[in-house]
Amino acid sequence: MAESKYTSVKPVIDASKKQVYIETYGCQMNVNDSEVVLSILQQAGYSLCNDISKADVILVNTCSIRDNAEQRVLGRLDVFRLEKKKRKIIVGILGCMAERLKDELLKHPVIDIVAGPDAYRDLPKLIVAASADSKQINTILSHEETYADIAPVRMDSNGVTAFISIMRGCNNVCSYCIVPYVRGAERSRDPKSIIAEAKTLIDNNYKEISLLGQNVDSYNWKGENGETVSFAQLLEMVAQLDPTVRVRFSTSYPNDIKDEVLYTMARYENICKHIHFPVQSGSDAMLIKMRRKYTRAGYLERISKIREVIPDCGITTDVIAGFCGETPEDHADTISLFKEVRYDGAFMFQYSLRPNTLAARHYEDDVPNEVKTARLNEIIALQNQISLERNQECIGKVFKVLIEGASKRSETELVGRTSSNKACVFPAGGHKAGEYVNVKVISCSSATLICELV
Ligand code: 5AD
Ligand code: SF4
Repeated sequence: MAESKYTSVKPVIDASKKQVYIETYGCQMNVNDSEVVLSILQQAGYSLCNDISKADVILVNTCSIRDNAEQRVLGRLDVFRLEKKKRKIIVGILGCMAERLKDELLKHPVIDIVAGPDAYRDLPKLIVAASADSKQINTILSHEETYADIAPVRMDSNGVTAFISIMRGCNNVCSYCIVPYVRGAERSRDPKSIIAEAKTLIDNNYKEISLLGQNVDSYNWKGENGETVSFAQLLEMVAQLDPTVRVRFSTSYPNDIKDEVLYTMARYENICKHIHFPVQSGSDAMLIKMRRKYTRAGYLERISKIREVIPDCGITTDVIAGFCGETPEDHADTISLFKEVRYDGAFMFQYSLRPNTLAARHYEDDVPNEVKTARLNEIIALQNQISLERNQECIGKVFKVLIEGASKRSETELVGRTSSNKACVFPAGGHKAGEYVNVKVISCSSATLICELV
């Protein structure tokens, strides 16, 4: 890796510099991208500002995954319009919406800059040019950009947990999904730069590192001399850095997850026993139309393998209700799959048509909105019940928890997570963020384990 000029982990707040305000929507990858953006701008002489009324530059890092994510950002433009009336500021739209809508966004009177996910190195230049009242756009996608040499500046950090992007883009063609179009082709990041970033975090007392990618199982680094590094190898390299630092990863693509990854997880105590395993639907007919590369049976086989190799593994999922042509029987298959797997948790969505995706071009979005909502609500109610039961099974058990900070409800209580990714709340007892403690579960809700220190 080339010597990096980006070294600061924490924001440098300096009122004498140009002030940049950054707002982030969407996934963890986007949160991490905003940290890369801040790093680039800090290097170019800007300071982070948390007060929009003091900003010289407002940047919004956007998400296109569902229509409602885009609507929220469009709603924010009215707020920026008011700021713009008061003084001269630059408003930039970054990320997935910038990539999807391109010039269409640039026409908006409030927007000065449109920059796609691979254009962030260009931002200092774009901001200078936009300051001369000339709108700027860069939505060129790259086959190489991984921002490998840029040390993300951690915003809104609890100082304990941090993300590292290990790859960008996605080569899958799930028919409902906008991601391959807005984030481009898949590329793996140089493992040396990943290890260097992890070491910097550890030197700064971080205790948990989450490795991020759209599909981490297809991580595959090829070096100049023909050497390769797989995801299982990368995971092991990061886990070996410090046994007191936890490692997590997300997201796994069901039939790409290798047994080697499971065995590596089982071998290292500090690799967290949690797999986010998006199923999307329990119906084979829907899985085919979604262009997922597995069947229901194949998915369930992977679940059995996970539970065989890592018996105490937390498993969570994503699911979409009301995809094109979904019949009551297809929906019933999703319900029965949820009952069979008994996930620890799930992110549940109703299908939202994304323009120009395979599904938008080939299938009719024919499940009425009320039916989508009813099916989604049925899945949510079922999963809430299962999550509650799963948590009730934990009552009386002792877990090692990494403390992340004070609980939202009370200053005298702390929150932390188990290796399996369950949130625990317990009395502070003189402990603080970044420490490990053993806690015993005394009661629970569907979302939280209520614990005491042991
Ligand atoms: N509509 C609804 N949900 C979607 N997801 C992705 N695309 C769509 C869409 N068009 C969900 C999937 C994915 C998660 C990140 O978002 O479940 O795993
Ligand atoms: Fe993340 Fe996908 Fe949303 Fe982009 S569209 S921010 S990749 S979830």
